Amino acid sequence: MTVKVAPSLLSADFGILREEIKKIEKHGADWIHFDVMDGIFVPAITVGPIVAGWLRSHTKLFMDAHLMVSDPESQVEPFAGAGIDLITVQAEATAHLDRLLRKIKAVGAKAGVALNPATPATVLEYVWPLLDLVLVMSVNPGAGGQLFIPEMLPKIAYCAEQIKLRKLNAELQVDGGVNLGTAPAIIKAGATVLVAGSAIFKAPDGMTLIKKLKLL
Ligand code: DX5
Ligand code: ZN
Repeated sequence: MTVKVAPSLLSADFGILREEIKKIEKHGADWIHFDVMDGIFVPAITVGPIVAGWLRSHTKLFMDAHLMVSDPESQVEPFAGAGIDLITVQAEATAHLDRLLRKIKAVGAKAGVALNPATPATVLEYVWPLLDLVLVMSVNPGAGGQLFIPEMLPKIAYCAEQIKLRKLNAELQVDGGVNLGTAPAIIKAGATVLVAGSAIFKAPDGMTLIKKLKLL
């Protein structure tokens, strides 16, 4: 099974986002990973549903929004309205994960949960059937260009096992420090969607990484 590649726009040139998207489309990207930071859940602030909506009008690629925000409940409708296909919320950002996932599905989007490195995957125990995606964060969220945390490999393997045992149709996404050096172990552990930001947008010849990852 070939892994899907979701370039993270966080490391793209925000002054020419449309051109950056055309470039990743040309190089075989499967999804677009749209990182949303509110300056509270993480210190940085990026972009929101208005920018997502403009990008939607320029591409047909599947878009997942990774909400690193402290009030994800209030952002579900705006992102679904902007045409985002899958909305991922951080498990740590809500006291009502079950209700939030049901809300995402009720507005017609797919639903994902992201786990910070220190968050155990057992937090998903009672919501597995609601999930279209699990995102194992392999760095602490907030910035691109950090090093992959190898202790996340058993967490990826655990999630892959749960998806298989429970016969779920959920993707297993890994985000943070993904490059040609770390990807083989991540794929071996069971990831189905690789997010990569700096390794694609900031490295010389980074665009060619998309196809290289898919050949692993
Ligand atoms: C980090 C973001 C990532 C980020 C990954 O908080 O969620 O999507 O862009 O960047 P790299 O691939 O450079 O580690
Ligand atoms: Zn992300």
